[in-house]
Amino acid sequence: MRAIVVRESGSAIEEVGEEFLDGDGGIVVDVRFSDLNYKDAMALTGRPGVVRKHPLIAGIDLVGTVAESDDTRFAPGSWIMLNGAGLSETEHGGYATRARIKGDHAVALPEGLSPEQAAALGTAGYTAALAVLRILSENVMPDDGPVLVTGATGGVGSIATQLLANAGYVVYATTGRADQLGDYLRSIGADEVIDRATLAEAGRPLQKATYAAVVDSVGGVTLANAIAQTNRGGVVAACGLAGSHDLPTTVMPFILRGVTLAGIDSVWANLDDRADAWRILARGLDLDKLDAMTQHVDLDGLHAAAEEMMSGQRHGRTLVTI
Ligand SMILES: NC(=O)c1ccc[n+]([C@@H]2O[C@H](COP(=O)([O-])OP(=O)(O)OC[C@H]3O[C@@H](n4cnc5c(N)ncnc54)[C@H](OP(=O)(O)O)[C@@H]3O)[C@@H](O)[C@H]2O)c1
Repeated sequence: MRAIVVRESGSAIEEVGEEFLDGDGGIVVDVRFSDLNYKDAMALTGRPGVVRKHPLIAGIDLVGTVAESDDTRFAPGSWIMLNGAGLSETEHGGYATRARIKGDHAVALPEGLSPEQAAALGTAGYTAALAVLRILSENVMPDDGPVLVTGATGGVGSIATQLLANAGYVVYATTGRADQLGDYLRSIGADEVIDRATLAEAGRPLQKATYAAVVDSVGGVTLANAIAQTNRGGVVAACGLAGSHDLPTTVMPFILRGVTLAGIDSVWANLDDRADAWRILARGLDLDKLDAMTQHVDLDGLHAAAEEMMSGQRHGRTLVTI
């Protein structure tokens, strides 16, 4: 097997025997594709907080074909996909030619998506879908006002922008690279492009109510300001911490405007929520736009791509061909 193995000293491509897959999962997968998420970039560049045991194969997502299976849902030869569920945290992940996984959180390839498209969407896309589903479940409708997407050039943000725009919402998208990526954001459905600096300074806990909902990938002061600008009864889906894990706010937006702060956890989402998320991804995206926003790397190019992601030089999605 060829795999990217994370050791305490760092990560590198290694040739390892199949006995390396010491997990107790009963499904053996010939991995064909994975992708690059923020968490993957953290693991590959040696940041703490993702990989919790060593040595461990990186890659929080995998798409491949079943080689052996103890799970009647997945016959040998069929396509299978796993996002999160401990991959690259405590379980060997998707940056390897083979994986041995548990079936509990695995799903079949969604109808309407190619294996490459499902992998390109990966955790980022499926998290965006979970966030949009949460907004819908709170009955926030397009007529209620614009939706703010922070970190909109990134994986979660780009897919959230597309899903929301295609569902009829007016989308305000933040970026620190408006000169470079403003046209990109408008091409995927953003109605307004906002300089992220306008949300980066600490402000009052209640500001001018502007947004019916928010999909936030950034955290910190940006999230606090987004909450402060959310309309009465609005919902803020907190997905990420690309800026900070802090949340410097007060209870005011929650008790005076009834704002809901909804946490989005893709790693341990149940199978029903996963199925719903993949259904809206298969139906609610313009797949030509997905293909256009997808960059391609193989295992050899991953470390360089991860460095670029951590230094804010990438956008859209990165498909990894194993
Ligand atoms: N909750 C979950 O289950 C879940 C699932 C997936 C991802 N996440 C988290 O969501 C976040 C985004 O993931 P991703 O894969 O979309 O990452 P990504 O592709 O790197 O996108 C993050 C975007 O955030 C913006 N950004 C970066 N640093 C910022 C800062 N200091 N202030 C404001 N904006 C900043 C960047 O856009 P500009 O340069 O254009 O401003 C960047 O494109 C990460 O924290 C990730 O761990 C959580």
